[in-house]
Amino acid sequence: MKVWHRGHIGDARECRVPLLDHGLLYGDGVFEGIRITGGRVFRLDAHLARLARSARAIGLELPLGQAALADTVCATARAHGAPEAYVRVLVTRGVGALTLDPTDCHEPEFYCIVADIRMFSAEIRARGLRLATASQRRPRADMLDPQVKSLNYLNNVLAKREARLRGYDDALLLNGEARIAEASAANVFAVVDDVLVTPPTSEGALPGITRATVLECWRAGGGQAVERPLTAYDLTGASEAFLCGSGAGLIGIASLDDRIIGGADRPALAVLAPAYAAYAARHGTAF
Ligand SMILES: Cc1ncc(COP(=O)(O)O)c(C=O)c1O
Repeated sequence: MKVWHRGHIGDARECRVPLLDHGLLYGDGVFEGIRITGGRVFRLDAHLARLARSARAIGLELPLGQAALADTVCATARAHGAPEAYVRVLVTRGVGALTLDPTDCHEPEFYCIVADIRMFSAEIRARGLRLATASQRRPRADMLDPQVKSLNYLNNVLAKREARLRGYDDALLLNGEARIAEASAANVFAVVDDVLVTPPTSEGALPGITRATVLECWRAGGGQAVERPLTAYDLTGASEAFLCGSGAGLIGIASLDDRIIGGADRPALAVLAPAYAAYAARHGTAF
């Protein structure tokens, strides 16, 4: 695992995080999770554009321009070396006073971590995910807008923890209106009457890069796809459902709260998985 911090690339164990960094004290910062596949960084520009939008949303100035950020990601990926890996880019508000007032934080801290990818096991991929509905809801846009990929992931962490403690693989988070927002770290898709359906971001979904890629690939193959609100009823009635994300990849959902979804074969995923791989080969940044 390699880390870029303050202009140096080193091992993760050597990296020192300042104690008074507001990212550590308050989750005051933004991040990206990016997949490296086939020796290429997947849709790096799209990820850095989302990072810039997240930063603007919380009034945080990125310490480097887009080109310099991209160079940093590629340099860290080269140091790590593996053709299949996971990148975590973090920008925190930086060191300030021991108060939540951020006006003393003058220098944002930037970290880029490249690590081996930790995905769901081959066994879970084969059988499909067993999801549990989380008891806590996804925050509304007038709280902390869920489109901001901020370091405040406690809601997601607790949802995942709850699901794992109850023996499930992952959590499904509903929004305040009891409609589906997303999973703990992935977007949700269902196939309803041969149409690919995913909740719009206004329902509490992150504007996922993998989600956008899935929509593009499906439509390019002549399929119909819509963004519309989804309920648990829609999901359990779907002929097929899956999650997608930079870390999760594309992975089928077997059940929600022990209610079986679709059949063992997943025809949409069977089409989308190779389409996604081909897309990654075309839209990756070599390092
Ligand atoms: C809450 C949440 N939703 C969705 C996603 C999927 O987004 P992407 O495909 O851009 O990785 C992530 C990714 O980590 C996430 O954290």
